[in-house]
Amino acid sequence: MTAQKDKEKQAAAKVAAGMIKDGQVVGLGTGSTAEFVIREIALRGLRITGVPTSVRTARLAVTLGIPLADINSVEAIDITIDGADEFTPELYLLKGGGGAFLREKIVAERTLREIIIADSSKLVAQLGAFRLPIEVIPFAQRYVEQQLEKLGASCLLREGFVTDEGNRVLDADFGLIGDPAALALELNNITGLVAHGLFINLADTVIMGKGAEIVRFNR
Ligand code: A5P
Repeated sequence: MTAQKDKEKQAAAKVAAGMIKDGQVVGLGTGSTAEFVIREIALRGLRITGVPTSVRTARLAVTLGIPLADINSVEAIDITIDGADEFTPELYLLKGGGGAFLREKIVAERTLREIIIADSSKLVAQLGAFRLPIEVIPFAQRYVEQQLEKLGASCLLREGFVTDEGNRVLDADFGLIGDPAALALELNNITGLVAHGLFINLADTVIMGKGAEIVRFNR
């Protein structure tokens, strides 16, 4: 199963790498799927400047010889290739299994073209079978948990995990999420909640490997 998933991820990564042009500023996602595209960029010798979405991705890019820029030194990001934990045909995403969703979201907000690559297990009719990652500042942890409980979620603290920004992650179970856009707005209003893994109207295209085929979803 994992071998098949990896083939699908790799096939999607190759298609996405083909969309990158020399000279572009490229957002580099985080996770096992994004790793395939980062390796593909190096393999093809694409002359890009990368903007990494995590320390983990920055380390990989440096190892592979991909030049990086500080996000605050670039005016815009031409294209970003990232993964997702779940996506719907409407291109709502649930991200953050790897804990990098705050920086991933900032990079997505600043990118002209957000491309998500995925294996076929990531396509769902409704988000929420995967717990929703929520980044909280440590001081606000219990308060945010209480607010999430009021919204009907049960939360698990990701034990021993600290984000690149020094925060904690709660994995929240809301059950299947009927209206991700509405939930995202509610979450945006909670003080001390730094980011959540719902990406609404941020992805332009999802490229999904499915067996030997590639399936595209566009917004
Ligand atoms: C990282 O924080 C996440 O948003 C990843 O993009 C997501 O978890 C997908 O990871 P995989 O590609 O490893 O499934």
